[in-house]
Amino acid sequence: VRIVVHGGAGLVEPAREAACVAGCEAAVRAGLAVLGGGGSAVDAVVAAVRVLEDDPEFNAGVGCVLARDGTPELDAAIMDGANLGFGAVGAVPLLRRPIDLARAVLADGEHALLVGDAAWEFARERGFSPASVDELVTPRARERLARALARGRSQDQGPRGTVGACAIDLAGHVAAATSTGGLVGKRRGRVGDTPLPGCGTYADDLGGAASATGHGESIMRVTLTRQVVDRLRAGAGAQEAAQAALADLAARIGAEAGVIVVDRGGGVAAPHLSPDMPHGWGSVESVHAAVR
Ligand code: GLY
Repeated sequence: VRIVVHGGAGLVEPAREAACVAGCEAAVRAGLAVLGGGGSAVDAVVAAVRVLEDDPEFNAGVGCVLARDGTPELDAAIMDGANLGFGAVGAVPLLRRPIDLARAVLADGEHALLVGDAAWEFARERGFSPASVDELVTPRARERLARALARGRSQDQGPRGTVGACAIDLAGHVAAATSTGGLVGKRRGRVGDTPLPGCGTYADDLGGAASATGHGESIMRVTLTRQVVDRLRAGAGAQEAAQAALADLAARIGAEAGVIVVDRGGGVAAPHLSPDMPHGWGSVESVHAAVR
């Protein structure tokens, strides 16, 4: 069994490094607790992403970045490599644990992606309640929005985030999960790469699983995670597949991004074009984490 997580491509100030490493380690351990007990890759990536959503250091769940009007709108997705099952939510306001709602969409199976305020109809049916603004929005998120608004438009450059996890379980099944508040100062209704299959999130037992982070409008144009998994299916290992897909993104569009990958042999990789990308990986024997 193996799991790899990320806490977003961008720049991590020295003062945040230790907290980002600790957050990634905690997420890896949460996923390993599931996998080590014989649990599924789907359950493991949900467990890992929940930890990162609850951690205010990362742009997902608590501490997520804000849209232009100062409110949070969240995107999240999960994909099950065993059957190509996909569940996702986009631009849903005031959602405390977006990955849990994506998981509910996957389990329900009628649709693959629910968006906006109306997604709350399904969420309420499944027992979710909206979070308060105070629960989700941190002083740091408000400061980041103020800086982005001072520049006049949503953030094109500089630090951005997203969290994600990819895992392979004892049965050899893979899964990927990704969750984000998107871009600082985005328009309301904007949906990024995270909840789009093959863009921010993809998993197929025939190759492996991938979760992306970075500038969503660029990542979706090259279908980054589908590119990674196609290369895995063709026989590349995790590192080779991830680097080749990022090289294509860099050559064609030049965006800042990163991707985590687990291949069907249990190999993991976490390359990034950004200066930093907090990430962690582990097996039952050991856990590691790094900022770059
Ligand atoms: N990659 C996260 C986003 O652009 O929304």
